[in-house]
Amino acid sequence: MEHSSSSSNRNNDQVSPVASLYNGIIIVIDLIFLFIKFWFRTFVELYESFTTKERDVSNDIILITGTGHGIGKELALQYSALGATIVCWDINEQLNLETVKLIKSKGGKAHGYTVDVTNREKVLETGNKVLTEVGDITILINNAGIMPQHEMLKHTEGEIRKVFEINTIAHCWMFQAFLPKMIENNKGHIVALSSIAGIVGFKNLVPYCGSKFAVRGMMEALAEEMRLYSNGTSKIQFTTVYPYMVDTGLCKRVKIRFENFLRLLKPAEVAAGIISAQRRGISELTVPRYMFFLNSFLRNFPAASSLLVRDFFDSGIESDM
Ligand SMILES: NC(=O)c1ccc[n+]([C@@H]2O[C@H](COP(=O)([O-])OP(=O)(O)OC[C@H]3O[C@@H](n4cnc5c(N)ncnc54)[C@H](O)[C@@H]3O)[C@@H](O)[C@H]2O)c1
Repeated sequence: MEHSSSSSNRNNDQVSPVASLYNGIIIVIDLIFLFIKFWFRTFVELYESFTTKERDVSNDIILITGTGHGIGKELALQYSALGATIVCWDINEQLNLETVKLIKSKGGKAHGYTVDVTNREKVLETGNKVLTEVGDITILINNAGIMPQHEMLKHTEGEIRKVFEINTIAHCWMFQAFLPKMIENNKGHIVALSSIAGIVGFKNLVPYCGSKFAVRGMMEALAEEMRLYSNGTSKIQFTTVYPYMVDTGLCKRVKIRFENFLRLLKPAEVAAGIISAQRRGISELTVPRYMFFLNSFLRNFPAASSLLVRDFFDSGIESDM
């Protein structure tokens, strides 16, 4: 208290009333400009969210992790159908090769690499190989992920570390491998698969939720870093996706109360949603879309009130043990 009162005295000694008045007027003018720019930007963004067309990706080189199965495989097939060159990364050599073969059999362009995305050295080494063998990656999709599902105290140490290594930390190795070229070219788009479990906590998914909440934070921070270090000139875009439960086999023992309202999603529809969001430059997307607004809305109420809504929906994942 003593310190703050003496420092405020010192400030009063130093700043004349005219300077204080001047500073006050500047702040008020800044606030008025902020208010006008805020609403102008809001209306422009709203208008653009309805009118922005999906951009052409036929000249893009798109690297997707986890292309051997599920959403990653669907993303690879659907992007390939749009004419893009696909670079498929998966730890599972056989499944990944099948995706590459399938794309090629349909006349698409695909390159497969067997990579464990948690192995930083391998990621950087294969990353360099891709840059020379295929070209600069213009869209990077960090999709590979795992989801052990049981009570917190039943998760093993190895499981917990692995969840974070694959679902979260591997994204950093991918940034380190591909972001430098994107910055050099001032061109690129990074997409990350978070999950509805990255904005809402679920039982049996404590480490998974942590790993997916972290993805949201990393993506937001990276986008902010790119914006500020480039003084707003960076053209690199970021999209984080939060799908609800998808029928890929990743979610075992699913519990859904209202099947018609909140059904298990198909990997193809989720991939289509992700691609559309990426092509329209949307920064965050839940699939289905209304979940983002529902979650943001409920967060304004006391936790106990939003728990009532959650209990009403009574959906989630049961333990696989
Ligand atoms: N399925 C869902 O309900 C759901 C919901 C929300 C978010 N997601 C997220 O979407 C992403 C894809 O999920 P999915 O359901 O398609 O999973 P999936 O299990 O069907 O496919 C995951 C793929 O990632 C690969 N993979 C796993 N570990 C790897 C590693 N270390 N290195 C490289 N590849 C690796 C696997 O071999 C597999 O081919 C994940 O990040 C998941 O968390 C899934």
